[in-house]
Amino acid sequence: MHPITTSAMAEDLKKLGIDPLKPPPLNKLSPDTIRKLMPTFARSLGVKCAACHDTNDFKASTPKKKVAAKMWSEFVVGMQMDDGSPLYCDSCHGGKMEFLDSHDKKALSAAMDANYVKKLKRTDKKEHSCEQCHGDPFEPKFLEAWAKAK
Ligand code: HEC
Ligand code: HEC
Ligand code: HEC
Repeated sequence: MHPITTSAMAEDLKKLGIDPLKPPPLNKLSPDTIRKLMPTFARSLGVKCAACHDTNDFKASTPKKKVAAKMWSEFVVGMQMDDGSPLYCDSCHGGKMEFLDSHDKKALSAAMDANYVKKLKRTDKKEHSCEQCHGDPFEPKFLEAWAKAK
């Protein structure tokens, strides 16, 4: 698992008028800003536009687009680094779309605790734990539901 880091993209976001410590919901951004934001998604994940989009119709819904939009609202907007520095897609992804090794569940759970629980806090200041992302009862593969949502 990629150890969580302060985002290296804070300046890119500021140039687009986005406060990296208080990013707005995606639907509050103008179409022009969304378009200029897209390369930060692609670079954070180390992918091309086609990883998420039907490039003949960028507006068309896809499972990856749904997950990306939820990652924005639940993680980038809903959480902050515990030390108050900016959290963004690159903080967790570090240039890879997929990076979890779920081979050893015990080691992964310990890494999740050290990175995603201890180094993050909730924007609404409520208590932060595994349940914040995995729900209660604990759902290990909750991204499957995100990919299908709506
Ligand atoms: C990680 C997934 C991901 C990648 C990679 C990505 N996009 Fe997007 N794209 C999205 C999401 C999510 C939205 C916003 C949908 C919404 O408004 O809720 C979006 C919106 C758009 C839109 C506006 C259409 C719409 O859906 O409202 C355009 C145009 C677009 N992207 C182009 C690009 C281009 C060009 C690239 C490559 C530089 C790219 N995207 C890379 C996920 C991605
Ligand atoms: C708090 C950490 C964190 C943040 C912040 C984060 N992600 Fe993720 N993301 C993950 C994890 C963990 C996975 C699962 C990766 C795996 O299965 O290897 C994931 C998976 C994804 C996937 C699905 C990959 C697949 O295999 O289907 C997409 C798309 C994605 N993230 C996009 C984004 C985008 C875009 C952003 C920024 C708006 C973002 N993520 C921010 C942790 C994060
Ligand atoms: C900031 C969000 C977040 C927090 C907090 C979090 N996780 Fe995760 N975790 C993820 C994401 C995203 C995935 C990928 C889920 C998927 O693939 O559907 C994941 C996957 C896992 C997996 C692998 C599931 C599988 O079978 O592939 C385990 C195990 C896990 N987490 C344990 C934990 C534990 C234990 C905690 C609390 C100590 C925790 N996580 C806290 C985001 C989080």
